[in-house]
Amino acid sequence: MNKKYRKAIIAGNWKMNMLASQVKSFADALYNKVGDEKGCEALLCVPSPFIPALIAAHYRRLGIGAQDVSEYDSGAYTGEVSAQMLSDIGVRYCIVGHSERRQYHGETDSQVNRKVHQLLKEGISPIICVGESLEQRDKDLTMEYVGYQVKAALWGVTPEQLRRCVIAYEPIWAIGTGRTATAEQAQEVCGAIRERLRRQYGARFSRSVSILYGGSMSPKNASQLLAQPDVDGGLIGGASLDPESFARIIEFARLEG
Ligand code: 13P
Repeated sequence: MNKKYRKAIIAGNWKMNMLASQVKSFADALYNKVGDEKGCEALLCVPSPFIPALIAAHYRRLGIGAQDVSEYDSGAYTGEVSAQMLSDIGVRYCIVGHSERRQYHGETDSQVNRKVHQLLKEGISPIICVGESLEQRDKDLTMEYVGYQVKAALWGVTPEQLRRCVIAYEPIWAIGTGRTATAEQAQEVCGAIRERLRRQYGARFSRSVSILYGGSMSPKNASQLLAQPDVDGGLIGGASLDPESFARIIEFARLEG
């Protein structure tokens, strides 16, 4: 397997942070720090209210993504945002199945799968989050559980559609805890995810899927994680709220990409 077949992606997940008044200065600061070199796609997944202004600002080297999408087309679903609405304003990436949505909003694997299909229908790349709890890891259930999540999220996804998908391995025990998976642990699971994709879709398609690691990634640990053969980038929470830290992680990814 070779990284030349796929994109390095560093995606920030702001979660429910920031205010409109802070967004422009943050993006300007980040934009000024992000170099011109190619080799990595930099992306910020921000709360919905900030998306139009950030897209309108035309940050050339900075993609803007969403954090969630409705599983439905349109209609009486108060509070929901549809994939069509996102694509209509120029969104190209959207996180789905984040563990916080699974945990706090009871999101199921079949809902994640429906969201994936909604996004693909609109030409938006889903960033599909999977990852085990500490209890599952301790019981040696990581591979089985993550494998199941991947399979369920991609149910009915064709090989051509798979090319648009991004998988983010985010062990729940590493999210927001400061406890990062070791580079070996991240590679072991990301490699197993790619192997599962290879068995289902074949080598040509599986090698083109970007697989990200997420969970307390920071400038301190990014270069080791990103050096792993099946870790193609990162999904960054806390460190994406600081332009300096986020820009440094992007630089590491460019070196590895
Ligand atoms: P942290 O980087 O804050 O651990 O969050 C990771 C995450 O959940 C990204 O989606």
